[in-house]
Amino acid sequence: MRRAVEEARSGATPLPRTRDRSAIDDQIKKLLGEIEVGRETIRSGQIDWSPATLQELLHKVLPGAEVLVISNREPYIHNREGGKTSLQTPASGLVSALEPVIRACGGTWIAHGSGNADRETVDRDDKIRVPPDAPSYTLRRIWISDEEQDGYYYGLANEGLWPLCHIAFVRPQFRESDWRQYEAINERFADAVVQEAKTQDPIVLVQDYHFALAPRMILQRMPRATIITFWHIPWPNAETFSICPWKERIIDGLLGSTILGFHTQFHCNNFFETVDRFVESRIDREHATVTSGGHETMVRAYPISIEWPPKALAGQPSTADCRQQVRQALGIAADVKLAVGIERFDYTKGILDRMKAVDDLLTRDPAWKRRFTFLQVAAPTRSKLASYSTLQSEAVALAEDINSRHGDGSWQPIRLLIRHHEAAEVFRLFRAADVCIVSSLHDGMNLVAKEFVAARDDEKGALGSLRASPEPRASYPRH
Ligand code: F6P
Repeated sequence: MRRAVEEARSGATPLPRTRDRSAIDDQIKKLLGEIEVGRETIRSGQIDWSPATLQELLHKVLPGAEVLVISNREPYIHNREGGKTSLQTPASGLVSALEPVIRACGGTWIAHGSGNADRETVDRDDKIRVPPDAPSYTLRRIWISDEEQDGYYYGLANEGLWPLCHIAFVRPQFRESDWRQYEAINERFADAVVQEAKTQDPIVLVQDYHFALAPRMILQRMPRATIITFWHIPWPNAETFSICPWKERIIDGLLGSTILGFHTQFHCNNFFETVDRFVESRIDREHATVTSGGHETMVRAYPISIEWPPKALAGQPSTADCRQQVRQALGIAADVKLAVGIERFDYTKGILDRMKAVDDLLTRDPAWKRRFTFLQVAAPTRSKLASYSTLQSEAVALAEDINSRHGDGSWQPIRLLIRHHEAAEVFRLFRAADVCIVSSLHDGMNLVAKEFVAARDDEKGALGSLRASPEPRASYPRH
């Protein structure tokens, strides 16, 4: 706007009279026109993102850029069961958010090959082109032994950093041996980036709490790389983070990034506070940067989202048909309100609390009996850890208890489906439901909420969360 006024004053455009702003308006319109991104225009300050917009933007702004991703979870997992190999897309927010982007811009995705048929499906360089039906990028699989997996993934990442950052009142466990595995696996992925890079200055997208050390390691190996790290879980306040024995190393590792992203500004602020407390550095809050050892890292909030239009929406039956099919398959009557909760079986998701809320509802207002069913779909995850396997058995026992007290032969208030559902099945359930409940105790950016809305092209259905009841809660049997 300032430029428009200056140009108008300099005579490029006649100086507007006080009451005639049209010259300035024209200039502003012209300038806005310049911000056009390819064919897509900026409407109401927002770009209409699509795979094409993204491709165009990337090719215009960063012509010839090489993109590499590192994450623990791979976007496509090959498993063999009963002599048949099947392809699974994991229940992962990271994959839902990032895969459409890489599909659009191409490149190489480096991830742990965790499927039992993964080795048989790669070439001799451990690579495979994906998606299998329309290949557009390369998946490079990294092999991790069971012992390494116990230390790096189950141990440090999921028994240490996961509860630490989620503040979910599961005590974080920190073991020296896990830390050593974590360091070693971070080195392995950093080496793989160097092996895979065809240029000296690639864009490396480092994903999540499994790779806090990798940004610094990559920077040391490739000083000209642009390293963009995204932390997919919350970042707690400095006092909470202070109990991590390797806090300085983790912060230093992350500060190898060119840009470090969190879901919310609140998490960025917590990160600044943590850096301030534990690491020698210069923090510039105005420009949201941290400089340490002469290297500057921009810290930004990026509320990640899902693909639009979602791939899983294509070919879905109408919502009426989805309702009918799902109810028929599960034996739920047409006049029963159906609420769904769909996620990994994780203690941060509030699954038990949700079931207790259903118990509360039926206790306070028995008129809902036979008129309401809550379907919890939960994909088993990290089951090797006691905190996860206990949750699963507690949920099964709680569902049985609630069903035995409120249900009858033909109606059960809680239905629990413990298995992985592919995206198309998840979308069918969303389309069949009256309500979707998202009630994480603490979360980064919950993509289930966004997927439910995206699944409802009929614009019906309610998205709900839980609030603490102002009245005394009923007491629940211990499990
Ligand atoms: O929330 C963090 C996160 O890495 C997500 O991005 C992802 O959805 C989830 O955890 C997956 O966990 P895992 O890879 O251990 O199954």
